[in-house]
Amino acid sequence: MVIIKLFIGIDLGTSAVKLLLVNERGEILREVTKEYPLSFPQPGWSEQNPEDWWKAVQHGILELTEHVDKSEICGIGAGGQMHGLVALDENDRVIRPAILWNDGRTGKQTEWLNTAVGKEKLSALTANIAFAGFTAPKLLWMRDNEPENFARIAKIMLPKDYINYRLTGVHSCDYSDASGMLLLDVAHKRWSQEMLEICGVTEAQMPRLFESYEVIGTVQGFVSGALGLPRGCKVVAGAGDNAAAAVGTGVVGEGGCNLSLGTSGTLFISSEHFGVDPNNALHAFAHADGGWHLMACMLSAASCNKWLCEDVLKTEDFAGEQAAITEEMLGRNHVFFLPYLMGERSPINDVNARGTFVGMTMDSSRADLVQAVLEGVAFAIRDSFEVAKSLGLEIPRSRICGGGARSPLWRKIFANVLGIPLDMVKTEQGPGYGGAMLAMVGCGVYASVRQAADALVELASTTEPDAALTARYEAQYQKFRKIYPALKELFPEIQ
Ligand code: XUL
Repeated sequence: MVIIKLFIGIDLGTSAVKLLLVNERGEILREVTKEYPLSFPQPGWSEQNPEDWWKAVQHGILELTEHVDKSEICGIGAGGQMHGLVALDENDRVIRPAILWNDGRTGKQTEWLNTAVGKEKLSALTANIAFAGFTAPKLLWMRDNEPENFARIAKIMLPKDYINYRLTGVHSCDYSDASGMLLLDVAHKRWSQEMLEICGVTEAQMPRLFESYEVIGTVQGFVSGALGLPRGCKVVAGAGDNAAAAVGTGVVGEGGCNLSLGTSGTLFISSEHFGVDPNNALHAFAHADGGWHLMACMLSAASCNKWLCEDVLKTEDFAGEQAAITEEMLGRNHVFFLPYLMGERSPINDVNARGTFVGMTMDSSRADLVQAVLEGVAFAIRDSFEVAKSLGLEIPRSRICGGGARSPLWRKIFANVLGIPLDMVKTEQGPGYGGAMLAMVGCGVYASVRQAADALVELASTTEPDAALTARYEAQYQKFRKIYPALKELFPEIQ
C-alpha cells in the first residue's frame, strides 16, 4: 500500500489567506483563497482583525480538505505578512486590531528610536534600524497613545504566529519573522534584552523562538475536532512571507535572489552568512533555511496596479488594461508614477511620501497611466537594486513570484528596468508553497530546506532583457530618480 502524505501551506497575506494542499512529491492538489477586510482608519494607518484571519483559515482548511482523506495530512506550515503587532491579554484574547506592516502611524516613535537611541546602537543590537512598519515602534506607539491597552499586554506576536497559536495553543515565533520586530538580536538569534527594555516589555511577553522548519506542536484537540485534522498533525514555526516565498522559489543558501511582487514588493538576497548593510538601507534578517538574508521592501507594489484598476478605473480586467500597452510604447512613456501610496520604506524610508503621477499632457491616455504605474513600481525596485549593487552584491539574475509576476508585460518591464533575466518557477505560489515545504522538513520528508528546494522547485520560464529596451529604460530610470527628491519637501505640507 502506498502511504500518501499531505501538507497544508498557508500564505497569510494582507488581502487574503491562500491555502495549498500539497503532497510529498510537491504537487499542488488544491488551492483555496479566503479574503478578509483591511481597514485604513486614518490616512497612512492599516489594521486587521486577527479573528478575521483565524476565521478565514478555518473556512479555508475545511474547503481545502473537503473529500480528502484527512488522516493523510501530516503537517502545516505558514508564511505570513511580517511586522504586524498582535497583542494578547492574560487570557490570550486580542487586545486591539493588529497594526500592520504597511501602517505609517509611528513616524514619531521611529524617529525617536533612530535618533535618541541612535541608528548605530539599534544596528549593533538588532542588525537593523527602525522603520515605521517594524513592530518595536508600534509597541512604543501603543505605550504613548493607548497606555491602558499597553498595560494589558501579556503576549506579543506576529500575524502567522497568531494562527499557529490558535492551531496548537503554543506561543511561538520563527527567526525570519522575529527579525522584523527590531527586538531580535539577529546575529545571535535571541531576543535583545536591551531592546525589550527600551520598548518597555520583558522576555516573558515574547513568544518562544524556533527555526522555521521546527515543529512547535500538534493541532490541539478541539481544533482537530472542528477542522477534521488528525490529532498528531504537526505545525511548524513557519516564516515571514518573504522568507517563505524565497523557500518556495528555491532561493536558499548563498547568493540567490527573489523578487516578490505582491501587495508589497521585495528584493530578497539569501546568504549562508550573517551580514549587515553598513547603511542599514537593506534589512538584515534571518532566513527560513537556517541562514540569513538581506532584503529591501517597498510598501505598495502590485497594490498600485490594483488600486489604479479597481479603485480608480473601476475594472478588474487587469490583462485587458495591459493589452493596450504596445511594444512600441515601452521605455517611451512621458508619464511617470511614484508608487508611494502608503509612504515608502526601502530605500527612502519616508512615511510622508505619496503616490504621484507626473508628466501628463493632453494626449496622455489611460494606457499611458497604467503603464506608468507598472514602470513606477519597477523603477522603485531598481532604487533598492542599486543599493544592493553598491554593497558589492552581485545579482546576475533573479527569481520572480507573487500576483504581479503573473503578468508577462510586467515581467518584461522588470527584466529590462533591472537589466537581468527573471526566472519563474512552476509553483509560483511563493509563501504558501514555502510553508508547505517547511512542514515537509519538520515532518522528516526532507532533511533540510535546501534538500526540499533541490527536490521540489523547478524552473518554468525565463524573461530575458533586451539590449535596446534596457537602454531605453535606463534613460527613463535616470529621469524617474529625480522626481522624488524634487517633491520630498512638499509631501509633508500637502497632507
Ligand atoms: C517585509 C514587509 C512586507 C510584508 C507583506 O518587510 O513588510 O513584505 O511582509 O506581507
